[in-house]
Amino acid sequence: MARITYDATTANSFRAVREIPRDGLAAWEDAVRRHLDPSPGMTVVDIGAGTGAFAAAFCDWFGARVVAVEPSEAMRALIPVRPDIQVRAGHAAALPLPDAGADAAWLSTVTHHVPDLPAAAREIRRVLRPGAPVLVRNAFAGRYERLRIVRWFPETARVLDTYPSVEETCAAFAGAGFAPTALESVPQTDIASLAELLERADALRDADTLMRSLSEQEFTRGKERLREAVGAQDPAADPAAVDLTSSLDLLVLR
Ligand SMILES: C[S@@+](CC[C@H](N)C(=O)[O-])C[C@H]1O[C@@H](n2cnc3c(N)ncnc32)[C@H](O)[C@@H]1O
Repeated sequence: MARITYDATTANSFRAVREIPRDGLAAWEDAVRRHLDPSPGMTVVDIGAGTGAFAAAFCDWFGARVVAVEPSEAMRALIPVRPDIQVRAGHAAALPLPDAGADAAWLSTVTHHVPDLPAAAREIRRVLRPGAPVLVRNAFAGRYERLRIVRWFPETARVLDTYPSVEETCAAFAGAGFAPTALESVPQTDIASLAELLERADALRDADTLMRSLSEQEFTRGKERLREAVGAQDPAADPAAVDLTSSLDLLVLR
């Protein structure tokens, strides 16, 4: 069971406020390119592909063919229809792929939803060619200094600390024969101003596992913090001076 239900309402909110515009993902394109060593036509399995934003990005950035595996029907329904993306029902521990049929696995903000990570790692081992990388984009317990949401809604750290840590994730994958080869913090930009973040707060509360965990009071306090910061901004100040980025970790295993 995922931590939240990805029904049609959540899927639409996810698309509206969680998908990061492509130009906010430049650092991710660069980081993934370095670790994936892509070649056109390679097969990438996107596990927990959601609404397919990264599946489409991998096709466009690297000329990959992506098998987008996603358990939620509502999320699958929003994955772009295009010849280089195959959409499949499934989950991390039951991948609808042949043995050694994929050149890389991508898991973006998924590991904390997977109930049995060691079983998922064994299944990923089965579908990957020997030596192929697993790229995990996630927040990990204890490592969220550069995660913007924690700055404004600090109580989200409570749930973040229940996510698998880097050590736990590596241990789960070690059981399937994988070893970590890289860990880096990678920034992304999905908003143009703090006012935009404030505008999105209600929809984010529906689409984001961390925001959902907040009590009414914690959520209201966070919005108040944001409102004060927006109000205190000098309209003449350079908007580029405000740090609007947020970072997640990229953990690579082979
Ligand atoms: C936060 S969304 C991330 C979607 C996408 N990877 C992205 O980054 O845009 C998490 C996704 O994981 C899926 N999910 C939940 N449990 C899963 C599991 N056991 N195996 C694979 N995916 C799962 C959910 O249905 C949801 O679409």
